[in-house]
Amino acid sequence: MTHVVVPRIDAARAWRDAARDLLLSQVPPQEVTWGDTRQDRGLFDTPGPPGPARPVTGSVTVPRSFLQMADTVVWHADPARFARLYAFLWRLIEAPHLMSDRGDAHLSQLRQMEKNVRRCQHKMKAFVRFREIGDPAGPRRSFAAWFEPTHHTVEPTAGFFARRFADMDWRILTPDISAVFEDGKVRFEEDHPRPDLPDDASEILWVTYFRNIFNPARLKVKAMQSEMPKKYWKNMPEAAAIPDLIAGAPARAREMALNAPGLPPPRMAAVQAQQAHLTSAWDGPADDLPRQVSACTRCPLHRTATQAVPGEGPLSARLMIVAEQPGDQEDLQGRPLVGPAGQLFDRIADDAGLDRNGAFVTNAVKHFKFRPRGRQRIHQRPDAGEIQHCRWWLEAEIQLVRPAVILALGATAALSLTGSGADLMQRRGNVETGPDGIPVLITLHPAYLLRQPDADKKAAATEHFRNDLGLARHMSENTVFPRTHA
Ligand code: URA
Repeated sequence: MTHVVVPRIDAARAWRDAARDLLLSQVPPQEVTWGDTRQDRGLFDTPGPPGPARPVTGSVTVPRSFLQMADTVVWHADPARFARLYAFLWRLIEAPHLMSDRGDAHLSQLRQMEKNVRRCQHKMKAFVRFREIGDPAGPRRSFAAWFEPTHHTVEPTAGFFARRFADMDWRILTPDISAVFEDGKVRFEEDHPRPDLPDDASEILWVTYFRNIFNPARLKVKAMQSEMPKKYWKNMPEAAAIPDLIAGAPARAREMALNAPGLPPPRMAAVQAQQAHLTSAWDGPADDLPRQVSACTRCPLHRTATQAVPGEGPLSARLMIVAEQPGDQEDLQGRPLVGPAGQLFDRIADDAGLDRNGAFVTNAVKHFKFRPRGRQRIHQRPDAGEIQHCRWWLEAEIQLVRPAVILALGATAALSLTGSGADLMQRRGNVETGPDGIPVLITLHPAYLLRQPDADKKAAATEHFRNDLGLARHMSENTVFPRTHA
């Protein structure tokens, strides 16, 4: 019997190496036991490499999709994870099609473990709260956070924090391994005791912000707890405000109703009657909306565009992302934000921990407006009338999805959602009010980053954009807002 000890740090690489050596030595799964240095402290102290005793040379070919899955599953808390991976790998060598066999119970179990780890990474990105531990006036500011992840996610998630907080030193301490980032380099350390972290002024700001975005009239305690599980509360400053906010919600909601605006001005009825066709809410079936959008002839843009591009994404999404209008690629493919600007958006969203697939993505205007130049179609900004005509569709999408937060990419989306055409650069990063009081976070359009010729300005704008996407993610995870649709 071979016993392999995988170290706690750099476990993904160590598991791969050991698994490759075992395969090359033809050691079947039933003849291997696996442990890590959490369970095998004694063994870890024993000199000699883990795995087969003989040095092994050669290589094995396995599907890339397996390696990607394994690189995530190794961070699962299940002590049997290494053994499960190796047993599946052993079968995979004989039957490479297994990676696409959805009925294979062994694969489903590993996929579920992969999902659990990713979810834990996602929670870590959202719920780590840093406190300042160094001199705020020092050359490099220094922060620390205490976090208790369900799985061993510190190492695979550290890159996200390193990119995000590259200009400061920080450490994320956990009961397991800890990440320490100093002078631009991350290292991992074992067994840090829980530190006594100071209160931090930025926490007060954060709690105030959280109190302000909390809407008592829309409180849904269960939804709130499933987005922000209680186990994380003890290390999150804003969580201290939650019981208070919940207890005070009914009284505050009554007060809001009493203070609601009174009678509308006399002109309003006439204006509303005139615009009834533009303002009546969508009441058709959800799955008919894309077809209706595709048949739209409300404005002349449908004459030259290839097709209308309706929004896409889960109707249960808490975040709605609204861009300007389809570009050349979107017009041809019939999907929003898939061209160069969309691809840039996806990359930065990924850095910010924002999962685009969990959001509903759409445009303020559904048809591509362009000017032909030779064989090219040059993008033209939609005018106020086109934005106004298309607003009906955008509002219909908002009615269906009822997002907790809307992210407005660029001036057209901001105008359509808030009615204000004020300077975008002054507003980016602000939370304004959109249809039905839904918070609208204003940010740049990714095409602005693509067009920016100055490298420094581009880097700064990209950083702002990434922060805005991180805030959108955070707000969508934490804001309480009605979920009135079924
Ligand atoms: N630009 C947008 O605003 N939306 C798209 O869908 C593509 C590019």
